[in-house]
Amino acid sequence: MNILFVNGSPRGRFSVTLQTCLYLEKRFPRHSFSYLNAAAGLDAFEKDMAPAAEAMGKAELVIFAYPVYSFLVPSQLHRFLELLKESGIPLRDKYVTQLSTSKHFFDVTAHRFLEENFHDLGMRVIHGLSADMEDLLEKRGRREAERFLEYAVFCAENGVFEEAPSVPAEPAKPYVSCLEGCKKEEGFDVVIVADLRTGDESLRALIKDFGAAFPYCTRFVNLADFSFRGGCLGCLSCATSGKCVYRDGFDALLRDEIQTADAIVYAFTLRDHSMGARFKMYDDRQFCNGHRTVAEGKPFAYLINGDMSREDNLKTVLEARASVGHSFLAGFASDADSLRALSLRLSWALEHGYNPPRSFWGVGGMKIFRDLVWLMRGMMREDHLYYRAHGLYDFPQRRWPRMLGLSALGVLLRSRRLKRVIGDKMNEGMLAPYKKVLEKL
Ligand SMILES: Cc1cc2nc3c(=O)[nH]c(=O)nc-3n(C[C@H](O)[C@H](O)[C@H](O)COP(=O)(O)O)c2cc1C
Repeated sequence: MNILFVNGSPRGRFSVTLQTCLYLEKRFPRHSFSYLNAAAGLDAFEKDMAPAAEAMGKAELVIFAYPVYSFLVPSQLHRFLELLKESGIPLRDKYVTQLSTSKHFFDVTAHRFLEENFHDLGMRVIHGLSADMEDLLEKRGRREAERFLEYAVFCAENGVFEEAPSVPAEPAKPYVSCLEGCKKEEGFDVVIVADLRTGDESLRALIKDFGAAFPYCTRFVNLADFSFRGGCLGCLSCATSGKCVYRDGFDALLRDEIQTADAIVYAFTLRDHSMGARFKMYDDRQFCNGHRTVAEGKPFAYLINGDMSREDNLKTVLEARASVGHSFLAGFASDADSLRALSLRLSWALEHGYNPPRSFWGVGGMKIFRDLVWLMRGMMREDHLYYRAHGLYDFPQRRWPRMLGLSALGVLLRSRRLKRVIGDKMNEGMLAPYKKVLEKL
């Protein structure tokens, strides 16, 4: 089979993910493999997609091989997808799958994002492989990679693929400004960070009406006007210094103009099941903050020009980001009613310092970060100091009295007779500390 690996790592030939592709090439000499350097070689594809068209045309199975970056794919691969869609290269009914490496932090949303886009292109989707970045170093990981390729080839040879959504999403109606302005108060610094491009009147109207409905003054930062030197290169230089190798002023924009705000409102036009490649560049470049939850406690909100009703994966990404960062998400707004509700929620959260606890996404995500930072603390210096100072190294659990108490209870419960004697007392025992809280009132 002619198999094409689309290398979606900004690290190009130094990519960890690529090593699994090279391994599979060696292990399966009966197939013919080729490579497309989609992320690191993006500049060339910006000018000419013909080499991509030729490579895709020859392939019987396309495998997108990439690192998970900030819940999705690297901005460079995101941009390549945009180019692929714009190019009109015929991909209908072509078999496609994916191979990612990561620390499994929101690998699921990255995979779903790509599958949604593959379906848009009419491709035949085979579920991919999400490997840990070190899996190839272990026998189990190598075996899993081999089985994955065999599985993908089997599916392609036997016409087995995932069903596409039955009804493709309708283009959303443009938003037209309709809200009256209200009296503005001082007191909070709220920044709107947008990717507002020339001609995007619908998003402009949404931002204008949010400004009208919201009771506090707002500032505006337009990412469309910022001259990014490029997407995150994955060089990890910032891990030790906290500074990005690019000298385009992004660190200053982020730290002095955005992170200083009391609340952040993001505004974008829905593109390709996400916020678009430019916003993704903004997200990836925040890697200069490492794994530190620097915006903790600041409420967030999203103004989204587009129909979010079918974008469950994107909703998960945005909700999970707020949960991991431990910030209240005041909602998504795409029309006048939701704008009003979002504005009320956000102002209330600011006025009352509202910040509910992290959900499963946040609690689970932070445990992955904790283990990663602990292991790499020699290199991820800034992260390590932050995790130590903020008590984020919550292991091993040294709650000795509680553990001893529960061990004693375990011994008692192993005896049927004692279990009967304890009976309802167990429920009472469990509730005793809570009752103390209530009694203190
Ligand atoms: C900017 C950036 C963002 C990342 N985001 C995630 C993430 O959201 N989830 C995760 O599990 N790993 C994340 N990682 C780790 C990479 O996915 C992982 O190191 C990967 O194996 C790198 O592969 P590559 O060498 O092929 O680029 C991120 C790394 C970088 C540099």
